[in-house]
Amino acid sequence: MSSISKPVSSKVSSQNTVEKRLQIQRLLEPTKVVSPSAGSDVVKGLTQTPKSLPPRYFYDDLGSELFEQICELPEYYLTRTETAILQQCAGEIAQITGSCELVELGSGSSTKTRILLDAYYQFGYSLRYLPIDVSAGMLESSARALLADYPTLQVHALAGTYEMALAQLEHTQLPTRMICFIGSSLGNMNSQECDVFFSQITDALKDGEYFLLGVDLQKPKHLLEAAYNDSQGVTAAFNLNMLQHLNRRFEGNFDETQFEHWAFYNETENQIEMHLRSLRSQTIQLRALNLNVHFETGETILTEISRKFDINSIQQELKAKGLVPQKLWTDTNQWFGLLLCQMQLSAAG
Ligand code: TRP
Repeated sequence: MSSISKPVSSKVSSQNTVEKRLQIQRLLEPTKVVSPSAGSDVVKGLTQTPKSLPPRYFYDDLGSELFEQICELPEYYLTRTETAILQQCAGEIAQITGSCELVELGSGSSTKTRILLDAYYQFGYSLRYLPIDVSAGMLESSARALLADYPTLQVHALAGTYEMALAQLEHTQLPTRMICFIGSSLGNMNSQECDVFFSQITDALKDGEYFLLGVDLQKPKHLLEAAYNDSQGVTAAFNLNMLQHLNRRFEGNFDETQFEHWAFYNETENQIEMHLRSLRSQTIQLRALNLNVHFETGETILTEISRKFDINSIQQELKAKGLVPQKLWTDTNQWFGLLLCQMQLSAAG
């Protein structure tokens, strides 16, 4: 079920023009988000060995705020590096795609989007942006900020999961479309999830349309581990906040002082693994889920993986899926890669 929010009338005329250029489509039923079945993933993760929790529970209000802070940390090179690459190549991207509708997965605050919008604007192209995010509040506030700064921009925001939004994209109103998936969020999916995700992308794209992907690349362990163990403890606070979020949501009694943040680079799997480690033997309760969970001293809960890519392998993998790499941009250290792919033009017939 989806509903389209009606434009709200406003006294200020400039705001009226914003309303005309903004459409927010809710793909999630609000009730679904708070239904008890929402905790089945928590039960599943905490009753299996080894224990894990779904990364989506990072993001309550405080979690989203802490995440913004992570992006600014001196050790967290990802955001800064990707932004610098985008600044360098946005004009070239606009030149390659031509007039193009931008679809962004996990748009968050849309900060990096502005770099692309500026480039398309400079070419005199129409600006149409479809941000997709699970947080309707975040979508609306960042859309309004963009609309205020880009007077010709049209925004059609989709509040929901990538899967739902990609399956429901309407026909593009511009000559082509580019789905943007930046911030190395691909790294937060395991290879099986990645496969499913790529099929959703290729199903959503027509031949010749574009996919822009930002990936964090393999690099020495000490650089990677520093990025996820910052000296100010923001990443630790972000990780531990998941326990508070679960307490609130499912009437739990996790004591955050009895767990610690633990992140390390697994060189066999080429991934950062982020865990919460129990500092003692303890049993916690999540009343709303009717769940008791026992922890041994030192036992961990896996909360996130962040895979680090080999630039050649990822390009081959994309190509095998029909997403043909057109151009790759990196920074001078080759720490981060931005890849523009084009949906394979299928052979006749
Ligand atoms: N995708 C980014 C990364 O893997 C951002 C991110 C997602 C992140 N989850 C995180 C950063 C958890 C720190 C901790 O780095």
